[in-house]
Amino acid sequence: MAAAGFFFSLTALVILIQLATSLNSCLAATPVHHSGRSTRFIRTSCQTTLHPNLCFTTFAPYATRIRGSPRSLATTALSLALNTTRFATKSVASLSKRHGLKRREAAALRDCVQEVGDSVDELKDSITKLGLPSAGGSDFRRRMSDIQTWVSAALTNDDTCMDGLSGKSVNRILKTRVRRRVVKVAHLTSIALAFVNRYAAAATHK
Ligand SMILES: *[C@@H]1O[C@H](CO)[C@@H](O)[C@H](O)[C@H]1NC(C)=O
Repeated sequence: MAAAGFFFSLTALVILIQLATSLNSCLAATPVHHSGRSTRFIRTSCQTTLHPNLCFTTFAPYATRIRGSPRSLATTALSLALNTTRFATKSVASLSKRHGLKRREAAALRDCVQEVGDSVDELKDSITKLGLPSAGGSDFRRRMSDIQTWVSAALTNDDTCMDGLSGKSVNRILKTRVRRRVVKVAHLTSIALAFVNRYAAAATHK
């Protein structure tokens, strides 16, 4: 009886030790993403973009959500670019409907709304495509290449809008207003493109 009791408590002890060990290794295997490390990832990623300061102030609040993931960084960047682009389209559209605009000014603004509106579609499609489950390999590369093409096209649209405004026919104050919004859109889109490129390269070289 005493021997059996000793055996059982020995077994219990062994199980306990195993449990503690596996719990320990389980905890060690979980990546520790405290905010310092997540923020550092944002900082170093932003340094590879053309607008590191705008990038860091924009993305730092999302650091713990992104958790050091290049894919999540790219998705967040596309989503932020999309939201900013949508807002810019709406505000330029309402500017274009103001009274007192010369016909040429209204036309230039409407062109902008159309071009930046195309960017909205391209960014939306990119987010959808990035979110699809990947079959890996050539499928992944083709998909990333499509996304790179669309985000580059969005960037070109933003430039086209601003080029269309640079003629003398548009009032300077109006030009400045539109420019301020579209420049922000272009910068965020350029950051999104950098992060998409980074994710494509990182995942391909794995
Ligand atoms: C963009 O806007 C959508 C809808 O308003 C929102 O759900 C999403 O969180 C926004 N994206 C970011 C990154 O803030």
